[in-house]
Amino acid sequence: MFHRTPHADEFAEPGFALPTCALGVATAATQIEGGHADTTWHRWAAEPGRIADHSTPARAADHWNRVAQDTALLGELGVKHYRMGLEWARLEPRPGEFDAAAFAHYRAELQGLRAAGIEPLVTLHHFNNPGWFEEIGGFTHHHALTVFDRYVAAVLENLGDLVDEWITINEPNIYAVKGFIEGVWPPGHRSPGQAVAVMQAMATAHIRSYRAIHRANPNARVGVANHLRVFAPAVSWNPLDRLGARAGEYLFQTAVVRAMSVGRFLAPFVQPDEVDPGRYYDFQGINYYSRSAIRNFADTTARKASVNDLGWEIRPQGLVEVARWVHTAYPGPIYVTENGTADAADSFRPLFLYDHLRAIAESGLPIERYYHWCFTDNWEWAEGESARFGLVALDFESQQRTVRDSGRFFADIAARGGVTAESFQRFVAGRTYPRQRR
Ligand code: BGC
Repeated sequence: MFHRTPHADEFAEPGFALPTCALGVATAATQIEGGHADTTWHRWAAEPGRIADHSTPARAADHWNRVAQDTALLGELGVKHYRMGLEWARLEPRPGEFDAAAFAHYRAELQGLRAAGIEPLVTLHHFNNPGWFEEIGGFTHHHALTVFDRYVAAVLENLGDLVDEWITINEPNIYAVKGFIEGVWPPGHRSPGQAVAVMQAMATAHIRSYRAIHRANPNARVGVANHLRVFAPAVSWNPLDRLGARAGEYLFQTAVVRAMSVGRFLAPFVQPDEVDPGRYYDFQGINYYSRSAIRNFADTTARKASVNDLGWEIRPQGLVEVARWVHTAYPGPIYVTENGTADAADSFRPLFLYDHLRAIAESGLPIERYYHWCFTDNWEWAEGESARFGLVALDFESQQRTVRDSGRFFADIAARGGVTAESFQRFVAGRTYPRQRR
């Protein structure tokens, strides 16, 4: 077998080696599969005015019909890890009725990945519910946890032999804030009390799933993909902004990460009778995108910040700040389960990759995985098809996939185990971030 002998200076400045962090790409079922499953988001997208470009998840990346092609493309990118989601509504189209064909489809996909030497990291819940579950109130229903347990048990029975790494729940805080405080995602409510109840239910669902998965497979690695942000006062000396940043951070992430990681439900949560404090994670999953500048208790973007197509601040060192916080509180392996940016022109994504991976390499933290969001362009929830996060560009009309420069750079990093000075010149040099004018 051919072994590459790296030259001592291969990773000389401005390059760097990434010896302990394996690269992967991430997706979510609803955002790439396409099709007409009866889900919350299919129903929501059918309502006028809900989605920026009026698109629906029915098209997306048509991944359901292109699994073989996409697995081959993952191989071309040279990634050894792939985060994918299961669409609950496909597997359980009616309460308690499971669809053998849908399980067979995912089995074939998982087998194909494994045959290609790609390790799957499988998400059980990523923002979407079966329509029937939404109808009864989703995670606010008093039987929600037993309903979720039933789904998890069926997944373990049918797919458990093919999966060793699981994410139970994706971003309970974003799900709760967008759907139950801002009301811009389904179910469109504006009720902070419900938001707290939903996060509490999801945290408990995670702990129950964590136990169920370990009963089925003691060697499994199980975690949550938590959306973590940096919170900063917009005006550093302003006491109200400082207070707002601290309160926002606690309510948005500190409390829920604690509940999910160690089963300690502090206010605004209530300790569930069934949960004893313990350790309910095998890795800390972090989805990191941006920083919130808190002004008058509102979430804003810092003045003159570098920003992406959606106006989100680009702040690479923030990834290490949140990872360090998590690691101090909950030691263990860290997986960056999502990190990426909306950049339709692919003008700064290579620089974004460089800066974030470099921050990881220099952090000294046990960050074992980095999953870039997203593998291909996808259906971006309320943004529809308009926000482009892919390492691979997607023409939604023709379904043509084209690897972007950033995708080639990512493949190059995966192949070499770091960024060489030469790769920097080729992919990164001369690129800059857009700046917010204000
Ligand atoms: C979500 C993804 C989403 C991404 C970019 C994360 O909050 O988990 O589903 O596409 O952010 O918006």
